[in-house]
Amino acid sequence: MKTIGVITSGGDSPGMNAAIRAVVRSAIYHGLKVYGIERGYEGLINGDIQEMNVASVSDIIQRGGTILRTARSEDFMTSGGFQRAVDMLANFEIEGLVVIGGDGSLRGALKLSQEGVTIMGLPGTIDNDLGFTDFTIGFDTAVNTVLSSVGNIRDTSSSHGRSTVVEVMGRNCGDIALYAGLAGGAEYILIPEKEVDINALCRKIVQGKNRGKLHSIIIRAEGVEMDSNELASLISQRTGLETKVVVLGYTQRGGSPTARDRLLASKMGYRAVELLKADSASRAIGIRGIQVVDYNMVEAMAMKRSLNTELLELADILSI
Ligand code: F6P
Repeated sequence: MKTIGVITSGGDSPGMNAAIRAVVRSAIYHGLKVYGIERGYEGLINGDIQEMNVASVSDIIQRGGTILRTARSEDFMTSGGFQRAVDMLANFEIEGLVVIGGDGSLRGALKLSQEGVTIMGLPGTIDNDLGFTDFTIGFDTAVNTVLSSVGNIRDTSSSHGRSTVVEVMGRNCGDIALYAGLAGGAEYILIPEKEVDINALCRKIVQGKNRGKLHSIIIRAEGVEMDSNELASLISQRTGLETKVVVLGYTQRGGSPTARDRLLASKMGYRAVELLKADSASRAIGIRGIQVVDYNMVEAMAMKRSLNTELLELADILSI
């Protein structure tokens, strides 16, 4: 392996820059040439490719977003577009590609690996919805971003004696809601992995009010079937409490990555280059507990995410 590339694809996440930095500097340390591919697979198809050096990744470890930018590419999903991507990698003699992205991006990378390109997949998404890793790069930062907003909302909800439905991202995974809800002391957490029990939800709110709670915070993951406004009006109607909706949206995708995400990204980026240098086959890189691990790419993408039911039960108990 002499020449590698690094790309960020799909929804951006805080920590992607730390991962890019680790890949570029590890590659140069190991004597490899490294190209940065801009704007995800769209940029790959169009040849938006620049050689990187140690200075290319200066002063970015603390920055959210991705200096390589990202995009979602319809073209890459077509046979013509996909072939142009394969050809472009050959034009630059890129033998190994580090792909930092979520589920869709890594599945696209899997297809590239079947064309003879060695892929190292890093889990770059705030959603925490990949089965081969306990945590994804950006998840911890997103949870802390939600936590900061929930803290502000608690203040104003208490002042006005209100309920607030806080909608968070995560696509079809409830982990951002679950972790931020538990850490934020939310009264109720709604996740797509569990049916909405509106009776239990309203009962909990009324019981809290009856024992003197000044507010209630309900964290709703965006994948939950009942939408936030419908939920809020149902709560108002059934509890008599004024209920507001706050959609945190894209604030969860930005911000300076936490130490945890910077360390995760740095360790994973280094592991990716180590494996490429050793001429490994395509691998997906994750973390189990505190241990960085790597799996066969095909097996990794078949692994299912399991809901942390313990955390959900704990959140329910601690918010009585
Ligand atoms: O996958 C990350 C994510 O932020 C999801 O949580 C969210 O549903 C989606 O991306 C939004 O996609 P887009 O950035 O294309 O609007």
